[in-house]
Amino acid sequence: MILETPEKVSQTSITLDVREIEPLLQAPPMDIQPFPAAMITLKDGRTMVIREARLEEAPLMLEYMSQVMKIDHDFYDIVGARVYAEILGWYRNRLKDPYTLVGMIDGQWVGFANGRLMNEKINISLHTMALARGGRIGAIMYYTKAAYAFDILGQDEWWATYESYNGWHRWGLGMAQPSYPWPEVQHELGGAKVYYITKKYWNTTVRKYLQQMVGADLIRPVPEELLAKNAQITAVPPVEEI
Ligand SMILES: CC(C)(COP(=O)(O)OP(=O)(O)OC[C@H]1O[C@@H](n2cnc3c(N)ncnc32)[C@H](O)[C@@H]1OP(=O)(O)O)[C@@H](O)C(=O)NCCC(=O)NCCS
Repeated sequence: MILETPEKVSQTSITLDVREIEPLLQAPPMDIQPFPAAMITLKDGRTMVIREARLEEAPLMLEYMSQVMKIDHDFYDIVGARVYAEILGWYRNRLKDPYTLVGMIDGQWVGFANGRLMNEKINISLHTMALARGGRIGAIMYYTKAAYAFDILGQDEWWATYESYNGWHRWGLGMAQPSYPWPEVQHELGGAKVYYITKKYWNTTVRKYLQQMVGADLIRPVPEELLAKNAQITAVPPVEEI
């Protein structure tokens, strides 16, 4: 829209540096305690290291997700497409306070979990993925991010929703998660129901349920040599085997 100026002006145009626009487009970040790397023994005896993904790994992760989103079973396509957008949102600073965790075995990227902080109290669970099947890697990744929210960040509520039968069965149903009235309250993933966990319910029930399913607990700190072995994504599982 253009209107005539109500006063004489000495400059009829103003040039903006786009870097002045950027702070208005980005949400100011909260000061979040980073995820401390952890390790866990899988049921087949292998050790998985879970660590925060590094921003410079995003292009490789995006490339892999562009293949995962073509897998037409078990909802890997829709979850893959959304995870692609979330990784890009993190990479391009268009996601508020995200955290992005990768599960790694001997340099191979086998698990993914991410979310974001709505505020100090509420953690929004975004997505969880097993990139190698049958090892309960997805369950471990979900457990790890919920434990991060409650036990490390000290948050009060966990807001999840489910886009696949495996996710709903394992977590929504398995944890008997209550939901907020719908459609009044909707999850940002497609407007579906918000299934939530309170800190109290996490402490009395859900942590134990997840630990039982996972069959082991997270161990910290991770020895330097194991961290170094998993510091880079050097391999990814063939998408045909997912
Ligand atoms: C949901 C998800 C993260 C769960 O991961 P997971 O806990 O590692 O479990 P899996 O999906 O590998 O396997 C689930 C069960 O089916 C079996 N299974 C299914 N497909 C299998 C396969 N191709 N190979 C081996 N086992 C398989 C597993 O043995 C397992 O049973 P068990 O735990 O009793 O041993 C994973 O299925 C996934 O990434 N799905 C696509 C994305 C998705 O739906 N994310 C959640 C959105 S709500």
